[in-house]
This record gives sequence, C-alpha cells and structure tokens, in this order.
Amino acid sequence: MKKQRIAVAYSGGLDTSVIVHWLKERYNAEIVTVTGNLGQRKELAGLADKAYRTGARKVYIQDLRDEFVEEYLWPSLKGGALYEHTYPMATSLGRPLLAKALVDVARRERCTAVAHGCTGKGNDQVRFEAAVAALAPELKVLAPVREWEFRSREEEIAYCERHGIPVTATKKSPYSIDENVWGTSIECGILEDPMAEPPEDAYQRTASPKQAPDKAQYVTIDFREGVPFALNRKYLKGFDLIEELNVIAGANGVGRMDLVENRLVGIKSREIYEAPAAVALHFAHRELERLTLDKDVMHVKAKIAHDYADLIYNGLWFSPLRLAYDAFINETQKVVNGLVKLKLYKGNVEIAGRTSPNSLYDSGLATYTEEDSFDHKASEGFIKIFSLPLKTYYRINKNGLSKKRRVARKGRK
Ligand code: ARG
Repeated sequence: MKKQRIAVAYSGGLDTSVIVHWLKERYNAEIVTVTGNLGQRKELAGLADKAYRTGARKVYIQDLRDEFVEEYLWPSLKGGALYEHTYPMATSLGRPLLAKALVDVARRERCTAVAHGCTGKGNDQVRFEAAVAALAPELKVLAPVREWEFRSREEEIAYCERHGIPVTATKKSPYSIDENVWGTSIECGILEDPMAEPPEDAYQRTASPKQAPDKAQYVTIDFREGVPFALNRKYLKGFDLIEELNVIAGANGVGRMDLVENRLVGIKSREIYEAPAAVALHFAHRELERLTLDKDVMHVKAKIAHDYADLIYNGLWFSPLRLAYDAFINETQKVVNGLVKLKLYKGNVEIAGRTSPNSLYDSGLATYTEEDSFDHKASEGFIKIFSLPLKTYYRINKNGLSKKRRVARKGRK
C-alpha cells in the first residue's frame, strides 16, 4: 500500500523538527516540509539539509516575499489595518499566506493532511486552520503540539536525542519570536509581566531611542493609489522599499510597541512588536489620506479600518467579507497619490510635509488673507438651519423640563 503523505509547515525550530518525526511514526506517513520566505532575517540556507536529516521525504522552501508584499501587506496598509489601533499585524498577515503555500504543496504532492506547529492558546492555529478550511476544505489539519505528550522543551530535546533529530545548539532566547519583513513579534520570559519594562535585549531590530542619532532624519515616500513606490525619490520594488525603510526607521528607534492585546481565544496577552517600516508607512499613508480623501469617505473608512483589522487578526483573510472590504478600500485609494515627507527622531515619526495632485486642500478656501474666496455670508444661513433642531428642542424643554412641567412646578411654589 502506498504511504499517506502529510505536508508540514516547517520552520526548522524545535517544535516543527519534532513534528516531522512524530507524525512520521504516528501515522506511518511520508513527510513533505514547506517553509516560506517572508523576509525573516533568519538564515534559510542549511534548512533543507536539516529537514532531510530530520526525516523529510521532500522539502519545499518557497520565496513568498513579493506575493506577501503585494497581496497581503499593501492591502492591509491601504485599509489602515492596525489591530486595537496599534499592531500592524506582521504575524497575522503572514499566516494565511503560509497556509496557502502549504495547501499548494499538499495538492501537488497528493497529501491527505497538512500539519502546523501552533499551540492551542494562540491566534495562529485559528489563522492556519481557517485558511485551510477556505482554500482546501477536503484537507485534514493536524496540530500535533495541541495533542502530543511533551510538556516541556527539555522533553522535546530528549526526544530529538533519542531519535537522532538534529537540534541547532544555539542558546535558547528567553523570548518567543516571530519575524518577517513587516515586523517582529516578541513574547514570553519577563515580558509576561505587564508591569515589567521590556529589557533592551528583547528588541531585535530597532535602536533604543536613547542610542539613536541626535539629529532628525528626513525621508520621503511616494504613493500611487495608496501604495508606496519610492523612498527618498528612488523608485523601489515593494519588498526592497520596506527593507530599506526598516533599516532607516529602525536606526532612529521608530516602530517599537508594547501592547496588552485581546487574543481571539479569550486571553489577554502582552507582547512587544518592532515594525519600523510598517509604523512609518501607516503614518505616512494616513497623512496622505487626510489630504486627498473626501470627508465622508475618510470617516467611513476609519470605521471600516477597525473591523478590517479584526478580520485579519481573527484569521478570516480568505473570506467573502475581506474581498468586499477590499473592493471598498481600493475604490477609496484611487486618489491617494502623492508624496509625504517624514521626520524620524528618537523613536518618533512626525509629519514634515505632504503634497498631492489629488489634494483637496484649497488654499483659497482655507486662507485668512485677502486671497480668501470662502463665502462668509453663506455661513449665516447654514448655521441657522444646522442649529434649528437645537433651537426647537430647547424652546420646548427649558432646563431639561417641558413647558407643562415647568408650569406645574411653578404652581406648587
Ligand atoms: N500576538 C501576535 C498575533 O497574534 C503574534 C503572535 C506570535 N508571537 C510570537 N512571539 N511568536 O498576531
């Protein structure tokens, strides 16, 4: 009988290494590993070799960087998607794409199941499994970490030693870190205490504001239909633009966040994030929208941004609702063209200037000089009608009382 095949989302870390061997034994299966390059700075060289030595039958390492930027990051930027007004969601946006890559390989390799290394307490399991449900409802999903016997890292290492699984002998950081080009998510260790200020060694990719240059650094970003395409007037491919901006903004201490957040599974957790480019780009994009969006569109879009972020965070990327939001958002972005100048200084991003061919800023209307073209007299009639409901209400309800009750009260005196 032909052995069944399982595709495993593989990072090369301890958990997914154990998974490869564990699934192989438990299901008497052939394992195909799938690793996605989303611009994490971790070395991917040597990973294929490691996967084979761990027992993989076949190894896929996919370059997903451009797809990640074009199909996931830019839509989230255009939508202003910041979870709980803060987190740009590097992790949340990466999961659906990794799940998609996993499903693609599973189909090509005729696998009957896919597996991931997420724990039972996090959001990532939901994101993986909801994505697989949408993309390949026929595939079974296995989550070994949710059901296996190991209770600690030490037990997993002992298992590796028993079975000759290579474990990279690096000193284990006290933190759990997830990273891609859009940002780094850091939790565990001392960070589990919300009162503890993050120690400097928790940060992976940003300078401490104290250490950052004493002189402000200016950058410009050009946008076309809400998408950045040039940094300091230099045309760049999306991925490269984000990478370059990560370095510049990170060196100025920009992009650090310390967040107590609401997970989908009902837990409050504390995590710190570093996303220098994402923070700067969200800021710049919002500033350009202030200049170019019609007031009503801007206000409705802000309400949608909140729900759009929730949807992404909650793992519903592959959903009809997301497509519907994208249709709305893309319609709004047709006029979001222009240039934003940012000032980066010791952890802060400030607006230093903005200009757009679609600018709705009319200096004739805005000015207080003799160039003024605003019709002042028209305001009088406008205010009369605008405030008419208030006039009516307070004529009837003086001091919050109706006329009838006012009369009754007077009579009692
Ligand atoms: N809390 C973030 C999210 O749900 C990140 C999760 C992964 N974090 C980590 N440090 N491994 O999107």
